Amino acid sequence: MTKKLFIKTYGCQMNVYDSARMADVLAPHGYAPTETPEDADLVILNTCHIREKAAEKVYSELGRLRALKAARGTMVAVAGCVAQAEGAELARRGAKVADIVVGPQSYHRLPELIAKIAREGGQALETEFPPEDKFDHLPDGTGAVGVTAFLTVQEGCDKFCSFCVVPYTRGAEASRPVAAILKEARMLIARGARELTLLGQNVNAYRGAGEDGAPADFAALIRRLAALDGLHRIRYTTSHPNDMGDALIAAHRDVEALMPFLHLPVQSGSDAVLEAMNRRHSADDYRRIVARLRKARPDLALSSDFIVGFPGERDADFEATLKLIEEIEFAQAFSFKYSRRPGTPASVMRTQIPEAVKAERLAVLQSLITKQQAAFNRAQERRVLPVLFEAAGRKPGQITGRSPYLQPVHVAGTAALIGHVHPVRIETVLANSLSGQLLTEAVAS
Ligand code: 5AD
Ligand code: SF4
Repeated sequence: MTKKLFIKTYGCQMNVYDSARMADVLAPHGYAPTETPEDADLVILNTCHIREKAAEKVYSELGRLRALKAARGTMVAVAGCVAQAEGAELARRGAKVADIVVGPQSYHRLPELIAKIAREGGQALETEFPPEDKFDHLPDGTGAVGVTAFLTVQEGCDKFCSFCVVPYTRGAEASRPVAAILKEARMLIARGARELTLLGQNVNAYRGAGEDGAPADFAALIRRLAALDGLHRIRYTTSHPNDMGDALIAAHRDVEALMPFLHLPVQSGSDAVLEAMNRRHSADDYRRIVARLRKARPDLALSSDFIVGFPGERDADFEATLKLIEEIEFAQAFSFKYSRRPGTPASVMRTQIPEAVKAERLAVLQSLITKQQAAFNRAQERRVLPVLFEAAGRKPGQITGRSPYLQPVHVAGTAALIGHVHPVRIETVLANSLSGQLLTEAVAS
């Protein structure tokens, strides 16, 4: 008998990947995905703990699920980083709603936890970092995937930025073996993927067992994946400046499939703030790394994360961040007000910044980024960009794909384009997309 599964995913792309793998784990146990919680037998909230509101959203979602559970007996599981960080608290506050609380390292155990609840009732809390590798226990997925897919190659973080919960929720850095990644990549390609985004909390710190047993670094992994038949594009996220070594910069120069769009978070342009953040690099270190990357790959565009209002951030520190942004010229960036995360060193720093100051700085920073993003998009006009086509567009006769810089690109064309890369002359630059003329010859097919 099929049962219905609804997964709601919060937060980062790692969670999107994990949600897909949870569906893979449950499929052999008769769970088929559904679009709404109302007709689900099992609802999984795959949560994020990176900022306050994310956790609060989980509690209010649990509140909403309470009525559904009462009416239909829906089983509810809380997974992800809130589950990891607040396991017991969540089990208590979410009591009578959350049947299962399972951390990001233990979701391969969902079927047995579900069976236990069904058998014995009560609640299951599983937030250990088990000695086994969950990837060894995840079944191969089946069925079609999109033209673009995620592949987790590394998890966890040893950097301990003073603001961040990730080293506590996701644990220590661990890299999957090259052979396991290649196997999963081949499966994804066989199911329709043409672009893979390699995921990890610190993906460029990757150091996994190579096919010959010797350790392989991230550049070696990228070169190996680039040789796979049928794979047109490789991206990765998220990276740390201190792991941007010579070999990886050389891969940006040599590997054509590696897209010239890099998310390389700097967080702040002030050395004092970077130091307090425990980033272990200066603003000039970042400038130098970007210069080297741009020399290796002149068409490289950059994206970053920024935190404003970190404890102790003075006006002059914030000005230094704006100056760095002016200099680098980002194609895109994500920016956040600093959020106190329990258990992290920054949360107990004395000079917390007032909310109003954070809000003001965020608005200034975001308007600068918006300006740069618009300028970057405008600069694509009349350029010829390779576009990987993904899906039918909203208008009839229109097909949508993405540029190397992840900009949506619309052209007049047929579904036969989907899964292929073709050059497009960009004619119109809209607020959130580009459109242009398909040039006939194929770049890759
Ligand atoms: N407050 C605000 N932003 C944060 N980030 C991580 N922790 C916090 C926090 N406590 C941001 C960083 C990181 C991104 C994923 O989330 O910019 O790069
Ligand atoms: Fe968090 Fe810093 Fe690790 Fe990124 S590098 S996951 S911000 S601790």
